[in-house]
Amino acid sequence: RRGIRRISTGVRALDELLGGGIETKAITELVGEFGSGKTQLCHQLSIMVQLPEDKGGLKAKALYVDTENTFRPERIMQIAKYRGLDPQEALRNILYARAYNSDHQMMIVEESKKIIEKENIGLIVIDSLVAHFRSEYPGRENLAERQQKLNHHIAQLLRIADIYNAAVVVTNQVVAQPDVFFGNPLKPAGGNVIAHGATYRVWLRKGKENVRIAKIFDSPYHPEREVTFRITEEGVVD
Ligand code: GTP
Ligand code: MG
Repeated sequence: RRGIRRISTGVRALDELLGGGIETKAITELVGEFGSGKTQLCHQLSIMVQLPEDKGGLKAKALYVDTENTFRPERIMQIAKYRGLDPQEALRNILYARAYNSDHQMMIVEESKKIIEKENIGLIVIDSLVAHFRSEYPGRENLAERQQKLNHHIAQLLRIADIYNAAVVVTNQVVAQPDVFFGNPLKPAGGNVIAHGATYRVWLRKGKENVRIAKIFDSPYHPEREVTFRITEEGVVD
């Protein structure tokens, strides 16, 4: 893909894993169990994108679509301060939208083109991509419709990422695989639609205390290497 830019995660080990940070014109999926750090990374990236290029950012704003009401302005300001930004200004540079259901979520993304055309948006966050879809379309009988809508939604996100040279970061839940006796009993939600739609897939899991472990999976271009980072008062750090 031509003309791609990168946003540093603010964590050297993670940047190395990702080949320099998260990419524009791509969808990066963060998947992991509760408390694995998905939302914290989304907060951090919304700050990192604002930094000048020599500090790993794009000197751009973020669009933050929050589906679970877990966006924390105080946390944003805390991370901004640590990264040398004015906390109030950094918060203003995050355009926030709360999505109340899956149709609303899709509408926000559709309508976001108008905002992105006017504002310098370098990052679009969807936290969580799948939660509304999963709760509104439960069971096998709704699976086809759910996957069709999710597919449309992801295609739309990728188109926007491509047109506006922005990075898209989405979070995804893990679900149990009760039939798996060996190997990982957990798998990402969203099935093939997300597996094919996400450009990069990052699996996060909890280590001891504030330590978290990340690896890239499903990628022919990345080694299945694990790196660790920590979640502290300063945000997400090495
Ligand atoms: P779900 O959305 O529940 O699936 O989890 P998640 O993967 O989004 O987890 P999240 O990013 O919310 O990570 C939560 C972890 O970050 C918690 O276990 C806390 O330890 C840590 N954390 C969150 N906020 C703060 C904070 O303000 N200070 C510190 N030091 N740690 C925090
Ligand atoms: Mg979360």
